[in-house]
Amino acid sequence: MRIQHSSLTGCWGRSRLCLPILISVVLAGALVAAPLRPVHAPHAMVASVHERASRAGVEMLRSGGNAVDAAVATGFALAVVHPQAGNLGGGGFLLLRRANGKTRFIDFREKAPAAATENMYLDSAGNVIPESSKNSSVVGYRAIGVPGTVAGLVYAEKHYGKLSLEKVIAPAIKLAREGFTLTYEDARDLKEDEYLAEFPASKHIFLREGNFYQPGDLFKQPELARTLERLAQDPDTFYHGAMAHELAAAIHQGGGLVTAADLAAYEVKEREPIRGSYRGFEIISAPPPSSGGVALVEILNILEGFDLAKLGNRSADVIHLEAEAFRRAFYDRADFMGDPDFAKVPVAQLIDKKYAAAWRESIDLNRATLSQDLKRPPIFSELERVARLRPSAIREPENTTHYSVVDAEGNAVAVTTTLNDSFGSRVTAAGLGFLLNDEMDDFAAKQGVPNNYGLIQGPANAIGPGKRPLSAMTPTIVLRKDGSGNSELFLVMGSPGGPTIITTVANILIGVVDFSLDIQEAVNAPRFHHQWLPDQILVEDRLSPDTMSVLRSRGHKLSLEHFWGDGECIMIDSRTGERLGASDGRNNGKAVGY
Ligand code: GLY
Repeated sequence: MRIQHSSLTGCWGRSRLCLPILISVVLAGALVAAPLRPVHAPHAMVASVHERASRAGVEMLRSGGNAVDAAVATGFALAVVHPQAGNLGGGGFLLLRRANGKTRFIDFREKAPAAATENMYLDSAGNVIPESSKNSSVVGYRAIGVPGTVAGLVYAEKHYGKLSLEKVIAPAIKLAREGFTLTYEDARDLKEDEYLAEFPASKHIFLREGNFYQPGDLFKQPELARTLERLAQDPDTFYHGAMAHELAAAIHQGGGLVTAADLAAYEVKEREPIRGSYRGFEIISAPPPSSGGVALVEILNILEGFDLAKLGNRSADVIHLEAEAFRRAFYDRADFMGDPDFAKVPVAQLIDKKYAAAWRESIDLNRATLSQDLKRPPIFSELERVARLRPSAIREPENTTHYSVVDAEGNAVAVTTTLNDSFGSRVTAAGLGFLLNDEMDDFAAKQGVPNNYGLIQGPANAIGPGKRPLSAMTPTIVLRKDGSGNSELFLVMGSPGGPTIITTVANILIGVVDFSLDIQEAVNAPRFHHQWLPDQILVEDRLSPDTMSVLRSRGHKLSLEHFWGDGECIMIDSRTGERLGASDGRNNGKAVGY
């Protein structure tokens, strides 16, 4: 079931659950409460999907911490208050831009265990094992990749934070030990997962043995509190100490592949972020193993040649052009993207503005290009030789969470983190109280077979020991020029949503840059998405019927979805320097500042 609301949701998920009653609950629970204006704060801001997590970050900022301290505190707190995606047992990416202009990108993506093999999710007949099976790449112990989150957060804190680890973990410990009052959305999300009950520790902790939590209940997690306390005292225990052995034993007992040796071999990587520009703004975003930054910059490069502002916000013309740009970027993503430590990813070519210009030439202003007819422009013939890959398919899952931080000095952090599916593999590490990812499903389980989302990718993303699966996570920072021509912080952005993360970030950014929306308006604005295959524009059903009918008349197939994603973004007011926080009106998050 896919009704997690910090994520791509509803009918487009694998189970395509589309019950009107649930949708009206969503309307009542989330959209009615949608913020219409950004939160203003003179000094600092944290935006996340859960108010308690945003407040944990602000607590660090108020007590002398910087944006990294706040981000790490928010990350640990999300592992407690937003267990469907906040995590200790998953992975993610952290993009930091310091006030001095230096950037850092920390990759703490999960890795495949050493025993992983290319065909490990195929049955004896060579078919992909269905997700409902406990042997699948989605549910159960075999879906688990080597977690990177603890390493990533601890690394960020040690290298770029100002406070102690004990201090930044303290709010999470308190939330787990003393509990927190569940909101309507918290209780609803705990109730709705169809696989959690299959794993005794998960059933006990999150479902109260079937006596489901209700809004207003106090939710305490004593095992998780103890785990966090142990990490605060000795973070190394997760990868090299007693906790590594406990975790590996729990996974082994359930038939999973992650061993103590895999945990000991895990390493965080600092990578060069992707850099691009759009109408004079500088874009800094996620490099491979995320496809996010490359695809985002490619999309923006293509669109830069069109006067979107003149065509009008959410007009059929603009949606047509954006969909065509999305289509082309996802076509390239399918062929070329994977873990850069294992596959050659032609990043420079893909984000070259000359390449975008050639793609632009192929766009008919009045007619949709059929995805099956798409041909890469000849300027890229060299690239074709380097990496034209066997197409393969992968199902990209939905639940992830993003948070953004700006501190009083102007340091900015964008973090997107994930267990992959909502509640990950649904396995809770016995005795440790945290959920483990199903990130192995972000690899291509089988070449050439379209997944439930129809996403196609190349063997660059085949399963291999020690490899990081391809991601779409797109933590992004945007700079503008100040009066003296120097770059200054403008936007900190990101969202969950599997492949829709990339187009959600593009939608928000274009809303601000081309249509002068404030950051809250841009986050709230109706979204649309195209990913090459399936050949359709996914549109939020708030688009007007006449806009949709113009798009159909141009040959686009439309697929309507209620909503998806969760933009948690911050904009800096150039005049006042105020931090403007926008938490997505589709959900129940909160931007908190001071
Ligand atoms: N697991 C979602 C992503 O990495 O894109």
